[in-house]
This record gives sequence, structure tokens and C-alpha cells, in this order.
Amino acid sequence: MKTKTQFTCSACGYHSPRWMGQCSGCEKWNTLEEQLVKPGPHGPGGRRVKSEPARTLGEIDGETLSRYRTGIDEFDRVLGGGLVPGSLILVAGDPGIGKSTLLLQAASAYARAGLRVLYVSAEESERQLLLRSRRLGEIHEGIGVLAGTRLEEIAPIVESGDLDVVIVDSVQTLHHQEGSAPGSVGQVRDNTLYFMELAKRTQISVLLVGHVTKDGTVAGPRVMEHMVDAVLYLEGDHFHHYRMLRATKNRFGPTFEVGMFDMGESGLTEVKNPSEFLLAERREGTAGSVVAVILEGTRPLLLEIQALVGTAGYNAPRRVATGVDSKRLAVLLAVLERRAGMNFSASDVFVNVAGGFRVAEPAVDLAVAMAVVSSTFDMPLDPNTAVMGEIGLGGEIRRVAQLSLRLREASKLGFKNAMVPKRGGAQGADLLNVIPVSRIEEAVEIGFPNRRSLGRAPIETSSPEPAKKPGKVETGVVGDPLS
Ligand code: TYD
Ligand code: MG
Repeated sequence: MKTKTQFTCSACGYHSPRWMGQCSGCEKWNTLEEQLVKPGPHGPGGRRVKSEPARTLGEIDGETLSRYRTGIDEFDRVLGGGLVPGSLILVAGDPGIGKSTLLLQAASAYARAGLRVLYVSAEESERQLLLRSRRLGEIHEGIGVLAGTRLEEIAPIVESGDLDVVIVDSVQTLHHQEGSAPGSVGQVRDNTLYFMELAKRTQISVLLVGHVTKDGTVAGPRVMEHMVDAVLYLEGDHFHHYRMLRATKNRFGPTFEVGMFDMGESGLTEVKNPSEFLLAERREGTAGSVVAVILEGTRPLLLEIQALVGTAGYNAPRRVATGVDSKRLAVLLAVLERRAGMNFSASDVFVNVAGGFRVAEPAVDLAVAMAVVSSTFDMPLDPNTAVMGEIGLGGEIRRVAQLSLRLREASKLGFKNAMVPKRGGAQGADLLNVIPVSRIEEAVEIGFPNRRSLGRAPIETSSPEPAKKPGKVETGVVGDPLS
């Protein structure tokens, strides 16, 4: 049979018989790559599949849902309670973030649990793998190791090995003879397809490592994400040592479940109490520092939000947000100006989530606003107060999901007060002192009762001269011998 060529989009996997500048599938430019098409194994009217009658749910053997566990709770939980036999999992993340480290540790744990594990290393040699395992300390010696990049050499070994778990590091570096270059769309898709078929046929669980492109998608066709049973992202940044493992898709468990690790000298260790870990470096009582309670997956987390408000000088005022959305910060500043009588037109505003953490949840709004207000007045918020609430454009504080869960976490970490949306109902009063607020100006009033008024846009304050203690000052003046 003749081989043909076709053009495949590297972003979405769309096929076209001819080259086009713009992909009709995803409308991206210059993403179509030429590929050889192998003649299919069965043409029209080819092999007939013998069909079986459909079973009822009750007839399906529930035993197939047993799971392999590593004993690394943070890892097992993100998988939905363990690795399902015959499943195909994609573990994605930026280069150097710790994917190989995590999977070698997981491989070791599976081997220790008596499973037969093969680690296919297409990126590193056997020696490099050995050096890594030495660095990690207790790595089980029974893990099978195979270094190679050619799928046709690896496949027979995988299939004859009588294995339970196969780890492929990485799906982008593995390639086969026919077709296009390694890492190309066609190759990545073919590799994924091969392992998908292998997993279903042999009940081997396959963990594929995948790299992520700059825009945060898995490098390779989007179809790869559709083919696998679960996608786990390992995130974090290179300047901080914590790593988050997040399930963005999971056919065998909840998505948006998050596991937290600390990357240290000897690999990744679980962080059992992330809030404590994230607040470890906080200096209590600093102006501009506010503790927020957010939800990551099903898990409440306490984070320190830091703000610094300064004079902009002659330049256009800057707004820099690290860890929270900068558009969101702009909205919050506008709401503070409009509803709480503040003015940032001549101020630089910097907001940072301590520890390099990124928060997308709107429940962080109130803490960001309070941190900005705290820095503006140079007055700390009570360090025993944790803050949560979304802010609407009208200045209203909107309710947050799972309030009682958040309050329990705050109380567990020793916080005495919690500023919460009024509409959330009277929860958590048994745990700590709950301060319900319904509007941003009310939150500012309660949080900073002694703030001075701002020259440009005066706001109503309860006591006009709050910074000085009136009694003391007067004694000084009266007792002055010169007067
Ligand atoms: P690696 O697992 O190789 O990343 P990936 O497979 O995602 O590309 O991790 C690489 C980084 O992790 C590297 O910069 C060194 C660091 N590292 C540690 O800090 N501690 C360790 O014990 C190991 C093995 C790596
Ligand atoms: Mg690696």
C-alpha cells in the first residue's frame, strides 16, 4: 500500500490533507506539521470484531476497582485513593519541577508493596537513574529499569515482563521508526495510543511523564489529555521548595484534589500540614500582612497575603500582583476607592502571596483588600485574625464555599478570630470568634478602628487622633518645665 502524507495541528491534533497557514480546528497559526500516514491495519470491510452482549452494572466485577497504594498519602489521594490497575495516567509539569523524582519515589513504594515495576527512562541513562536513586536514599532495588528511546525496542520487553506498573519518562522523548521525528504530534499521539491499548489489554497501570509548554498545556496534541484516564500536574516554581500535585482530570476519583510536597536534599517529602508550612515564615503584626483561608481541592489552606502601598512619585502608579490575578487586584482597588473612600491614584500597590503560591479562588479577595488597607494606613490587622470572603463590585462581601471547613483549619492553627461573610450563616462560633461582615467598608472599620483619616479622601473614622495615646501626650505637654 502507498504511504500518504497529511498535516496535523501540533496544538489540537486536527488533520488536514493539505497545508494551511491557520488550523481550522483551533484557529492557531503555523501549527500544521507534515506527517506520514501508515496504511491502516484494516481497510473498509476488514477485520470483523466479534461483539458481546452488553452487561448490566450489577454483572460487572467490582474487584477491578482495587487500587495500588504507595503509602505516600499525598500521592495516593490525588489519584483518588490509589492507582487503578489498567489505568493510564499522565503526570505533567515544567521541566525540572520534579516529575522524575516523584515517579522514582512512587516506583520504589510500589515495588516495596510487592508490585512488579518497570521504569522506562527515555531521558536519562541507567547510570543517571542510579545516581538519582542514590540521592533519594531508600529506593527499592527491585525496580526494573530500561533506558532507551525506541518504542519498538521497549514494547516487547514491557509486554513480556509480567508487570503491574510501568512508568514512562517521558512520552515526548520516546519514538518509533516510522513516521515523524521524536516529540512531534504524531509520535506523541502514537505513543499514548500504544500505552492506552497496552493498559486496557494487560491491566498494567501506566504512568506517562509529559512536559508542559509555556502556555501551560501538555506539549503534544490535546487529544493526549482526552485519551488518558487521569492528568496530574506537578506545579511549583524553581525558587521555592514546595510542589503541588493537582488532578485536573480523573476518571477514578475527584478532580481538583491537591497533594503537597517539599522538595529537599533527598527528594520530595509529603507536607502533612500545609498551612503550618506556608505560614512558617510569617512575621506577626506586620502592616500589610493578612492571613487568608482558601480552599485547594477539598482542603482548606492558610496563606499569608502581603501588600505594600507606596508613593508613586512622578511615574504612572504601578500595580504588581504576584500569586493573585492582577486584573482582580485592579478591581479590588477600584472597589476600595469607590466604597471605602480610599485613593490609590498616586500610589504604587504591590501584592504578593508569600511562599510563591498562586491563588485563583475569589475567596482571597477580602484578605487582599485588607492587606492593601493595612499597608496604606501602616497599621497591622490583628495577627490572630484569619480572613475569607469574595468582594463584589458593589463592595458587598459574598459568601464562600465550605466555610466551616475553613474555620476549623484556622482554629486548628491557633487563630482566635475569623472575619467571614455575613451571609455564610452562623457557623464556627464554637471554634473561634467569628466576625461577620457584609460590606467592605464595614470590614475596614472593624479591622482598623483606629486608622487615621487620609488627607485626600477623608473617611469617617471613629476616633480622629488614633495614632497617639491622648493621655500620654498631654502629660508630656503639661509637665514641660519650660511652659
Ligand atoms: P527532576 O525530577 O529531574 O525534574 P523533572 O523530571 O520534572 O524534569 O527534578 C529536577 C530538580 O529537582 C533538579 O533541579 C534538582 C532537584 N532535586 C532536588 O532538589 N532534590 C533531589 O533529591 C532531587 C533528586 C532533585
Ligand atoms: Mg525528568
